Amino acid sequence: MTLRAVVRGVGHYLPKRVVPNTEFEARIDTTDEWIRTRTGIERRHFAAEDETTSDLATAAASAALADAGMTADQIDAIVLATSTPDFTFPSVATMVQAKLGMTSGFAFDVQAVCAGFIFALANANAMILSGQARRVLVIGAETFSRILDWEDRGTCVLFGDGAGALVLEAEEGSGTTADRGILSSDLHSDGQYRDILYVDGGPSTTGTAGHLRMQGNAVFRHAVEKLASTAHTALEKAGLGSGDVDWIVPHQANLRIIAATAQRMQVPMERVVVTVSDHGNTSAASIPLALSVGKQRGQIKEGDLIVTEAIGGGLAWGSVVLRW
Ligand code: ACO
Repeated sequence: MTLRAVVRGVGHYLPKRVVPNTEFEARIDTTDEWIRTRTGIERRHFAAEDETTSDLATAAASAALADAGMTADQIDAIVLATSTPDFTFPSVATMVQAKLGMTSGFAFDVQAVCAGFIFALANANAMILSGQARRVLVIGAETFSRILDWEDRGTCVLFGDGAGALVLEAEEGSGTTADRGILSSDLHSDGQYRDILYVDGGPSTTGTAGHLRMQGNAVFRHAVEKLASTAHTALEKAGLGSGDVDWIVPHQANLRIIAATAQRMQVPMERVVVTVSDHGNTSAASIPLALSVGKQRGQIKEGDLIVTEAIGGGLAWGSVVLRW
């Protein structure tokens, strides 16, 4: 028998305020048409002034727990991916733990920017396989609107706020690719690319949160090549190929990156969950948000083989293959 980390529940939360592309036309030199054609983004959600990353994360976690039919006291661990924490410390994960009324177990944050949820999922899987935890809440939550430079048209139109969460539980599988749960993961980083995507502030440099800086076209080139490659490797590790894939659930940064990656993987767009048009790039929240919305839409069903892939600042990138 082989232990597997199986998805028991999924949920998400999006702040109420929806900002269409046209709102940027009044503020900066851009157009709805440019944003749509270059990125596929039509609108995004922005958190209210008094709404923080831990609020978004707690709402998504509560929805995932309800979907799993579980209560917070049944959870052993919370792994939360974010680059926009409420505070430098404590971790957002421990704040969510408190907000859920959970006083046992352990909670910590993972920081791999837009690839954060992939890294969190791989870590949660490793904890389940090693017996450290049986039930793990894995959350991606961001308020990127707080670190955007509203004068920089090359970045401020791209991002949104939101949160998504999964409940994973240990289950005995047969050890074959027919098992439900996480079947493989593939993680990478290469710090030499720091300058193409970073935030220009932090506690030990400027003492401020800073603003996001990006050389979009350089990131774009790395994204297409590295995402297809890591997804392919993760599938290979699981003993599977592109033909076995029911859904690609990619990081939602840009429709052109999503389409080019799917094309390299030889998976048609009909088998790709796309939410970037409604959410923009929500960084570590984008994959759990897409999983939750994909299930709500009736796209993702029990038994489907899913490949998730993401790349972000670092650069850090990776892929997780799971059967829903
Ligand atoms: N409106 C109008 N024009 C714009 C805008 C805008 N909002 N933004 C940039 N432009 C202009 C540029 O100034 C440039 O003008 P120029 O030729 O006169 O200099 C022109 O559009 C082309 O700019 P490029 O950057 O070459 O445009 P590109 O087609 O590459 O699209 C984009 C830019 C959308 C940013 C794209 O490169 C992209 O999506 N990159 C990847 C971003 C990404 O995936 N990030 C992922 C990780 S995020 C994370 O980890 C936090």
